[in-house]
Amino acid sequence: MPDRKNPQSARAAEALRHALAWQVEAGADEAIGERPVDRRDRAPEPASEPIRDRPAQRGADPPARPAPPPAPAAAPVRLESTGETVASARESARSAGTLEELRAAVAAFDGCALKKTAMNTVFADGAPGGRLMLIGEAPGAEEDRQGKPFVGASGQLLDKMLAAIGISRENDAYITNIVFWRPPGNREPSAAETAVCRPFLERHIELKKPEILVFLGGPSAKTLLDRKEGITRLRGRWFDFRTPDMIGAGAEPIPALPLFHPAYLLRSPLNKREAWRDLLAIRARLDGSG
Ligand code: URA
Repeated sequence: MPDRKNPQSARAAEALRHALAWQVEAGADEAIGERPVDRRDRAPEPASEPIRDRPAQRGADPPARPAPPPAPAAAPVRLESTGETVASARESARSAGTLEELRAAVAAFDGCALKKTAMNTVFADGAPGGRLMLIGEAPGAEEDRQGKPFVGASGQLLDKMLAAIGISRENDAYITNIVFWRPPGNREPSAAETAVCRPFLERHIELKKPEILVFLGGPSAKTLLDRKEGITRLRGRWFDFRTPDMIGAGAEPIPALPLFHPAYLLRSPLNKREAWRDLLAIRARLDGSG
């Protein structure tokens, strides 16, 4: 409690409040370590050694110095360190024969750094037998709290958009994201985080076998189509989607349509006109007339 009779302490408390508010505004709204780390005091990290030479690996003496405090967990995994993690994700994903087995495999997977800062794994919501599968970017704060995708403001708009073409989340639509954990501060998932989740996402599509895929927003469309163009160029165009395993098995491609993300439409309502056109195209495909 600030000492109101002591103007200096009151000023210090006020300055702290401003500093915290500034951090929250900048997106640093999660505690990501067990203890605070004062980086001004930390000795420089020793240059990393090749793994085979580390004393613990060779069963040599314990290190003379106590280990430095653990680094905060939120730093995105570097892409070059993800090869083995992606391989283990692929193995785990391939071993899942049903959506429920895949949900369990994702929940048990510890290879994505985002999991360390998230409250819940956000796997999917909606109708597993629905004709449509929608894939967004990443869970936000409310999704992280509830463990379900698209339950916040953009989810409410998504439900209205779907209802406008006679589709309900309960009966006809199945919804997921390209990553299963909330990125701290709602930043865009990094390439490495997306890469380690991708084998699960591809298996998700293979097991779900939707009639139509809808990629919500640029990150989802660009990731799944391996394209560089932004959503403004990709939206409204139909693509043939196949995972590498579907290609290997000679499976039919799934028609896929990129659509503006509902969060973008909340910020830029003028683009709802294009989104409406795309929704009508989805309806027409479902009705066999598109
Ligand atoms: N935005 C997304 O892309 N996914 C969600 O689950 C929620 C908001």
